[in-house]
This record gives sequence, C-alpha cells and structure tokens, in this order.
Amino acid sequence: MPKQRILSGVQPTGNLHIGNYLGAIRNWVENQVNYENFFCVVDLHALTAPHNPNELAEHTRRTAALYIACGIDPQQSTIFVQSHISAHAELTWLLNCITPLNWLERMIQFKEKAIKQGENVNAGLLDYPVLMASDILLYQADLVPVGEDQKQHLELTRDIVVRFNDQFGSDRDVPILKLPEPLIRKEGARVMSLTDGTSKMSKSDPSEMSRIHLLDDADTIAKKIKRCKTDTIRELEFDNPDRPECHNLLSLYAILSGKTKEAVQAECADMRGWGDFKPLLAETVINSLQPIQTKYYEVVNEKGYLDRVLKAGREKAGAIAFETLKQVKSALGFLLP
Ligand code: TYM
Repeated sequence: MPKQRILSGVQPTGNLHIGNYLGAIRNWVENQVNYENFFCVVDLHALTAPHNPNELAEHTRRTAALYIACGIDPQQSTIFVQSHISAHAELTWLLNCITPLNWLERMIQFKEKAIKQGENVNAGLLDYPVLMASDILLYQADLVPVGEDQKQHLELTRDIVVRFNDQFGSDRDVPILKLPEPLIRKEGARVMSLTDGTSKMSKSDPSEMSRIHLLDDADTIAKKIKRCKTDTIRELEFDNPDRPECHNLLSLYAILSGKTKEAVQAECADMRGWGDFKPLLAETVINSLQPIQTKYYEVVNEKGYLDRVLKAGREKAGAIAFETLKQVKSALGFLLP
C-alpha cells in the first residue's frame, strides 16, 4: 500500500509560537514516518495582512529552519516555500472562478481578521482560503494536520473539491481532485493566549506577553509565565468554564510534560496554588523548547544547508504540483501549450 499523503503549512508572519507547535508541527513530526509528507512555508498567505518586505525572506527561512528544528527530517519529508512554485497562485485563480463569493464571506477567520485589520483589508484576505485549498489540492493530499482554527477552511476546501469534480470531471473514473480529510488532534489543537484564556494564542496579537515563541530564551519564558493571567483561586483544575486561564495553563503543562490530565490534577492537588505551579510550568516549557532551539541554531549556522533543503523540496513538490495543475487546466478546457 502506498503511504497516504500529508500536506500542511505555517505562515511566516512573525515568530512561531507554542500554539503552532502543539497544534500543528508537533503532530507532523510524530506521524512523519507513517506518511508521505509535504510541508510548506506559506509566504503568499503572509501578504494578506500588512507585512514588512524587509522581513519576509528572513521569516520564511526561519520558519523552514524551525520545521527542521522541531524534528521534520528533510530525508523523510519535503519542505518547500509556497511562492517558489507558481502553480499555487495559478490554481488559486482557477479555483476562484468556481468558488461562490458567499462561501468566502462566511469564513469566521475572515470576519475576525477583517475587524482586527480595520481599514487594511485587502482582497487577498477574503481569498486566503482558496489559496489554502490550492496548497492542499495541488498535492492531492489525503490528510491535512492543523489546529482547530483551520477546520472551517478545510470544510471549504472539501466543498470546492466536490463542486469542481462535479462540474468538470463527472465523466471520469478517478476524480480530478482528491477530497482531503482534516487531522485535528484533541490535545493542543487550541492553545489560548497567556493574557486572555478566552482568545487563541496568535502571531498577530500585538502583545508579545500573550504567547511563547519557540525561540524565546529561558528568562523571557519564565517572565511571560510569571506574569501571565491567572485568578485568585488557590485550587487548580481543568474544565471549569469560569476559569479558562487555569484550564489552558494546566493543559499546556500536561501536553509538554507528557502526563495525563488525571496525573496533573493529582500533582496540583498538593500545591499551594499558582506560586507553586508557575515555576514548574516555566521549567517544563523551557526544557521542551531547549532541544528545538539548539537544533535551530545548528540548522541556520550550517552554510548552504537550508538552501539545499528548500531547493530539493521545490523540485520534488513542483513536479507534483504542475502535473495536477495541468490536469485541472485540461478539465477546464484550456488550450494547453
Ligand atoms: P497559521 O500560520 O495561522 O498557523 C499554523 C498552524 O498552527 C495552528 N495554530 C494553532 N494551533 C493551536 N493553538 C493555537 N493557538 C494555534 N494557532 C495556530 C494552525 O491551526 C495551523 O495548523 N492558513 C494556515 C496556513 C496554511 C495551511 C495551508 C495549513 C496555508 N495553507 C494548507 C494547512 C494546509 C494558517 O494561517 O496557519
């Protein structure tokens, strides 16, 4: 049996945080040997919010280096940059023309980001999920491992596939585009902000204190956890809807320490509240990120290594992407060169 194919990606906007790691990258790493993997740095998506041209290339490299630092093995998995393969933009245009506008207007993330970005909403922000669908469909991915916030975009991707195959491939035995399945793990799928347990940890939150970056040093991590929002209740517990921060911090500890919820609950029962818990959480986060940081600096300091990985990734991914694009164009009736 050939392995099922995985595709996923992260936007190179700002610094990757533990939400990106626990919701997405860690799961890519854990399942890596079981699948045929494609991981892309989605730099075209980064233009949907105001961006700094002086930082884009550097953030793109940093994101790719972090994939490797987190445990993605370039021998096992194809790592590439979205904008290096023009088929992504081209398929987006083709799929735009079969995607009803009101499907895009319904997207929760569009509505939320449009409010946040105020005057600065470009057409790309609305179109963002079609570009994401193109990323997935070009590689005929079976599975897409993401955090909870991307679920609706995957549903849209599936709707686009069904519509496209119905309209342009109903006479074929094998569908032109493969219907992908989301892969969303329960644990870590929605890591919340350190300053507000009711909102998601996010790269675009103006407050640095709201998130822990994968490259934060030990002092910064300790400071962020020391100052993070908690409450005045001494007992520590999971699942109390009135205490979202408490649930979030205990969950972070459980995932990173590899302990079950029950074990964490039992451990916390002996504590004297946040004063005991926060240093323990800080130490656990620091110890979990330390090997990632060591590997990251090895990767970026090895001259030419990352460029070689991205070049090989571009060649391998490009061959598959352009083949799918050709099939799509042929189904749409284009005169092929
Ligand atoms: P992005 O860059 O916002 O996030 C990258 C991945 O991290 C997950 N994530 C989280 N998981 C748990 N808790 C959080 N607080 C948290 N914040 C982010 C996201 O769910 C995502 O899996 N549109 C996507 C990138 C993308 C993509 C794709 C993903 C573009 N094309 C194709 C999969 C397949 C995005 O902006 O993710």
